[in-house]
Amino acid sequence: MKVTAFVGSARKKHSYQSVENLLQKLSAMGDIHYEIVHLSDYPIGICTGCKQCLDKGEERCRLKDSRDELLEKIEQSDGVIFASPNYAFHVSGRMKLFIDRLAYIFHRPCFFGKTFTSIVAQGIFGGNKIVSYFNFIGKALGFKVVKGICINSLEPMTEKVIKKNEEKIVRLSKRYYAQLMKKQLPRPSLFDMFVFRMSRTSMKIKLNDDFKDFRYYREKGWFQTDYYYPVSLSPMKKLAGNLFDYLATKVS
Ligand SMILES: Cc1cc2nc3c(=O)[nH]c(=O)nc-3n(C[C@H](O)[C@H](O)[C@H](O)COP(=O)(O)O)c2cc1C
Repeated sequence: MKVTAFVGSARKKHSYQSVENLLQKLSAMGDIHYEIVHLSDYPIGICTGCKQCLDKGEERCRLKDSRDELLEKIEQSDGVIFASPNYAFHVSGRMKLFIDRLAYIFHRPCFFGKTFTSIVAQGIFGGNKIVSYFNFIGKALGFKVVKGICINSLEPMTEKVIKKNEEKIVRLSKRYYAQLMKKQLPRPSLFDMFVFRMSRTSMKIKLNDDFKDFRYYREKGWFQTDYYYPVSLSPMKKLAGNLFDYLATKVS
């Protein structure tokens, strides 16, 4: 198995070291090799907002940067970790540039079956909201999400803080490893069903073959399926799915 971590700090300090610690624990648990991608080593362009990637296709993007190289690293991995410092109560600018470059995938999720988690390093406050943000985007990109952690790094670090950070990383390594080994794809929650059925039904009504999203959904067969991937749904979720289709039809 391969796990790739993407680190959004220019320094090789707390985000980087926590990721390295987590990856070492994972590789001690099983046959896992890993790569740490220090985003500072890669040119990442600033999105100009032309929306070509969303409407026509990501191949139309005019930026010449490392997007495709970084994407290939995700595609070749079984698991992915995003790590960022807390800068002004959000991810670092470099991490955000990277996420913006992946934004079309929120429209056309593709990382089903791959395991995702996150680590946020912070001085004092605000990191848990960033972890929630990472949990959300991981899911929206299609990953199986293992809830991330926030590490405290205010210096000088006390023994107590170092111990607490270590315990968080140990617990995360166990959760992450268990998910990585799981073959079965997660069952969708009602909210997941809502997102899938509302978007696919409104897309089916409003868009056409001129739009990349429409072609992507059509090629995947998603205009007919219950969910992004085959999954057995309870009668209640089947009913809810039909209701969401109906709602999307009315709204559209
Ligand atoms: C520009 C800047 C903004 C920061 N903003 C916050 C913040 O809003 N909240 C916080 O708790 N820590 C903040 N910090 C502290 C960093 O999150 C902390 O030093 C973290 O360890 C940096 O990650 P790194 O060690 O991986 O570089 C900030 C640091 C910098 C340089």
